[in-house]
Amino acid sequence: MAALAVIESAILCAMIRFAFLVVLTLTLPAPPRDLRVQGQRISQHLQALSQFGKNPQGGVSRVAYSDADLAGRQYVMGLMREAQLEVTVDAVGNIVGSRAGNDPSLKPLLIGSHIDSVPEGGNYDGTTGSLSAIEVAQMLAERHVTLRHPVQVVIFQNEEGGTVGSHAIGGGLDDKLLNSVSQSGKTIRDGTRFIGGDLALLAQVQRPPGSIAGYLELHIEQGGTLEKSKINIGVVEGIVGILHSEVTIEGFANHAGTTPMDQRHDAMLSAARFVERVNQIVTSIDGRQVGTVGWLKAQPGAYNVIPGKVTLGLELRDLDEIKILAMFNRIRAEAAMIGQLNDTHFSFSDPTLIHPALTDKRFQKLIDDTAKELGLTTKVLPSGAGHDAQEIAEIGPVGMIFIPSIAGISHSPKEFSRPEDIENGANVLLQALLKLDELP
Ligand code: GLV
Ligand code: MN
Ligand code: MN
Repeated sequence: MAALAVIESAILCAMIRFAFLVVLTLTLPAPPRDLRVQGQRISQHLQALSQFGKNPQGGVSRVAYSDADLAGRQYVMGLMREAQLEVTVDAVGNIVGSRAGNDPSLKPLLIGSHIDSVPEGGNYDGTTGSLSAIEVAQMLAERHVTLRHPVQVVIFQNEEGGTVGSHAIGGGLDDKLLNSVSQSGKTIRDGTRFIGGDLALLAQVQRPPGSIAGYLELHIEQGGTLEKSKINIGVVEGIVGILHSEVTIEGFANHAGTTPMDQRHDAMLSAARFVERVNQIVTSIDGRQVGTVGWLKAQPGAYNVIPGKVTLGLELRDLDEIKILAMFNRIRAEAAMIGQLNDTHFSFSDPTLIHPALTDKRFQKLIDDTAKELGLTTKVLPSGAGHDAQEIAEIGPVGMIFIPSIAGISHSPKEFSRPEDIENGANVLLQALLKLDELP
């Protein structure tokens, strides 16, 4: 008899729990399709963040691991707490703000970007997506919206110096990268410590493939396509791969006044020929690939000494990794020939390669549909700039939303995006996130 009573009460309990869940589900507000960000608040936050590392040209120099970077990170963490996110700094120094979901069995949805800049950079690269992602979290908090999935707002560290924070999550960091010197003058290892990372725990940062439900990143286009064609929203189809190699040219330093022109082993002359040849090789192939020599140092570096050594930075980008490697091999082969012209010697450091990444087709459609429902025009386009999304693509599906960059200028204090475009982009981010949350 007693056993029967126990079974009856267990059944009753289960029925009550089921009824409770049904009532809860029916009374939960549907994902609010009318939810919109406060564009003015994003503009205010962008303005406030631009004070950290502000430079006289009107942009910012907030390179990763600088004092300005540290101060900007503190500011952003404050905003994240106001948005009721639970804020932590992971072992590599990424800032992660978490909002719990309703269904503990679901993997997190990630949104975010970066707040570090290039030297003499602008006020919109990375910050637009970062502050918009925080605004999305703020709106969810203000409207008491709990999604099915947990949401993580991630501000990745040192995007500009090699997508370091997102690479640690997607692929791990090796000693070569950790020991390389960043724009701040600190090694990535020391810089990571400086911003609160703990590299002894680095292994915990890497996330296995399949461990996230998806990642959405809003970013300025950094090119002129959207503005020129008067399109509101870019749906990114893929993000270029980026190869970097340091090239050393060794010649012979000698007196610039007494050494006849036909007896010189001028490393600078070889560098000049090399720069021109890189341009010719890259432009001789059909497609959107680009190649740049972005920096060059001559030694000993005096008016009256023929340079005995030049080091320079070669960068190649394309959506197709095979094409990047083919261009690199051709450039290396032709460098050897340039060296023979005046008996100088070229050597190339082992290239570092950030892999190209395609965005998820479902995410592309979802972003496109969302933008159109908001009355915005869209265009599918590739990203010529690198982004944290391409590292996160190693562990799950990613999507990227672009907004117009005025005159296509970026990595410059003249970088600008209109507040109304930022608001549009942030609303697409918010509504696309709500839709992603509903996907099975
Ligand atoms: C990052 O902004 C890059 O494309 O270099
Ligand atoms: Mn960026
Ligand atoms: Mn950038």
